[in-house]
Amino acid sequence: MQRKMFIVNNSIYKILKKLFFLIFDFIYLYRVKLKTQKIGENKHSVSTFIKYTATVQSFLESDKRFRRFRQSPFYKIVLEHVNYDLAQKYLKQVKIFSDGQSFVPYFDAMVRNDRVGSPELYKFDFGSVSGTSLRYCKVYLEIKSLFDINRIKDIAEIGGGYGGQALIFDTLHKPLAKYRIFDLPVVIKLIELYINSYYLNSSFSANDINSLCKGRSFDLVISNYAFSELPRNLQEIYMNKVILNSRCGYLTMNTGLVNKSDKMISSENKLKRYTSDELIKKIRGARLIREVPLTSKNNYIIVWGTN
Ligand SMILES: C[S@@+](CC[C@H](N)C(=O)[O-])C[C@H]1O[C@@H](n2cnc3c(N)ncnc32)[C@H](O)[C@@H]1O
Repeated sequence: MQRKMFIVNNSIYKILKKLFFLIFDFIYLYRVKLKTQKIGENKHSVSTFIKYTATVQSFLESDKRFRRFRQSPFYKIVLEHVNYDLAQKYLKQVKIFSDGQSFVPYFDAMVRNDRVGSPELYKFDFGSVSGTSLRYCKVYLEIKSLFDINRIKDIAEIGGGYGGQALIFDTLHKPLAKYRIFDLPVVIKLIELYINSYYLNSSFSANDINSLCKGRSFDLVISNYAFSELPRNLQEIYMNKVILNSRCGYLTMNTGLVNKSDKMISSENKLKRYTSDELIKKIRGARLIREVPLTSKNNYIIVWGTN
């Protein structure tokens, strides 16, 4: 009886402690947000509107927070939210794409990516890795299967999170010369902090899209759950400055899918963001492929320049 009471009290204590830290974090982030509010055009995507930039700012202000940033509950809402079930599905894809090759380089690349930010690790028979690293590894291998990978030396990524996809490419893709991420100013600082925790094989930069000169071209543009979430006026900027200047492309989209039965929704959507139909028309050689595993009902991937 006493033991049962102890267990109950202990769990209540743990829940209260979590709640306290959550409230504390919320107040802290609200104060950071007030400090960092800006006047000007809205540059945010749908998933980054609430508390995201304040959360990222808090990682920059405290070394302790940066060391554990991948466990932050607010950061997990936008990124770092692959659960164990989904991680297993990514692992299945990694195994399919790497069939016949050694798994060791992929495991090493994921372990390297998990060295910074204290992510939650899942245990598998080969070792422990985070769900996000598995996702980045799957994306790398899918890209490798779609394109003539040896010709891809110069990569641009729109909305790079903390830079994990870039790091996976740096580790695994030997011909890589230059990887550039375009993201929000505060996120660029986090990316730089993260990426500069490593010595790279390739060259790397993270910038605001305003710094990109007209006429610059890329071998490949990647954007996963980022370009698709931007407001249309910003999508147009990225379209003209990056996407239409990239020989190959891989964009995981979570908006804009046009269903034949959905004409009303699609015409309304058209005003907010590019639809899948528009993208296919606008980007030469673009086609839709399935997102596997499918992370949301209407997701899809746009690819072009496959040969
Ligand atoms: C849902 S996260 C996806 C991150 C990463 N692609 C991944 O797969 O883990 C959306 C990304 O878009 C970025 N983002 C938001 N607004 C942006 C903007 N105006 N320009 C570029 N990136 C932006 C966010 O900072 C974040 O890195």
